Amino acid sequence: MSLLEVRDLQIEYSSARGPFNAVDGVSFSLERGEIFGLAGESGCGKSTTAYGIGRLLRGSARVVGGSIRFDGVELTGLSDAQFDTYRWARISIVLQSAMNNLNPVMKVKDQLTDAIFAHRKGVSRADALRQAAELMELVDLPKDRLERFPHELSGGMRQRVVIAMALALRPELIIMDEPTTALDVITQKGIIDKIIELKRTFGFSVLFITHDLPLMLEICDRVGVMYAGQMAEIATRERMLAGARHPYTQGLLRSFPSLTGPRVRLAGITGSTPDLVAPPQGCRFRDRCLHALPACGSVAPPVRSEEDGIVSCHLYAKEEMRHEAVAAGR
Ligand SMILES: Nc1ncnc2c1ncn2[C@@H]1O[C@H](COP(=O)(O)OP(=O)(O)OP(=O)(O)O)[C@@H](O)[C@H]1O
Ligand SMILES: [Mg+2]
Repeated sequence: MSLLEVRDLQIEYSSARGPFNAVDGVSFSLERGEIFGLAGESGCGKSTTAYGIGRLLRGSARVVGGSIRFDGVELTGLSDAQFDTYRWARISIVLQSAMNNLNPVMKVKDQLTDAIFAHRKGVSRADALRQAAELMELVDLPKDRLERFPHELSGGMRQRVVIAMALALRPELIIMDEPTTALDVITQKGIIDKIIELKRTFGFSVLFITHDLPLMLEICDRVGVMYAGQMAEIATRERMLAGARHPYTQGLLRSFPSLTGPRVRLAGITGSTPDLVAPPQGCRFRDRCLHALPACGSVAPPVRSEEDGIVSCHLYAKEEMRHEAVAAGR
């Protein structure tokens, strides 16, 4: 059984122009010990998916359909109080801005021990302090930093404190939404290496969101590529490096310089993402696609599963296309 199974997830926001699904039928699974990346242009629904799983949706946002199973339990059916037994203890979240969300008037040691006290009833103060010191060591922070306030630490150190808090209760899943984007490249590299080392030690799974596709391909076992609220493709790292299937993924990969290959001009993708309040029929990527077929304008792309991934594109589904055409009486 997968650690996390997301099926046909639908998340709605309301807007002045009416409601829209920022996440519209997203499915993927995450295995134990796996790092799964979520990629795609700004606004494609990556954070909304992550917040939906971690129950951090705010304001008008609502899960309106689909299923989120964690270790066999349907999370969407849990009350907030029931979900609280999962938060931090089994699923924790590190956000891009998290380092700025540390309490500015609390010393690092109090923030770490608070996280431990909140979930481990009956822990003594001395025990909690010992655990806090261990956590500091895990993320390579000197113990004397426990006595500091957040503003006395660098951005990289603050983000390490946030990662330590996320690790405090040894969760099975850590969701990381742009965990290092606000940091310089050297600090970012140190933190990413640390996350991978801790993952090897503790065996947790990571749902990893970043704009940095080369970084994603370096550290993720599999990557899901979202487009306009939907999953365009899921592929293993090897598949991605050997060549993606979906024309959108191919365009995304062309938008970044190759890590190892010869220098080429960046091609990227022209045009912009569709309006989610009134999404186009058929494939949402078709107006920007270099390979669009007539069916792409009217029939939603079928999903094709292969050993090393899943692709949702008419180019890979000739039989299914004929099926649709027959069903539509053409
Ligand atoms: N609180 C909100 N209220 C209404 N619409 C929202 C809200 N948050 C996000 N959206 C919209 O939902 C869509 C998905 O946003 P989301 O933040 O999930 O994208 P993302 O893939 O994480 O983008 P980025 O890479 O920029 O972080 C976008 O169209 C966005 O404008
Ligand atoms: Mg985001």
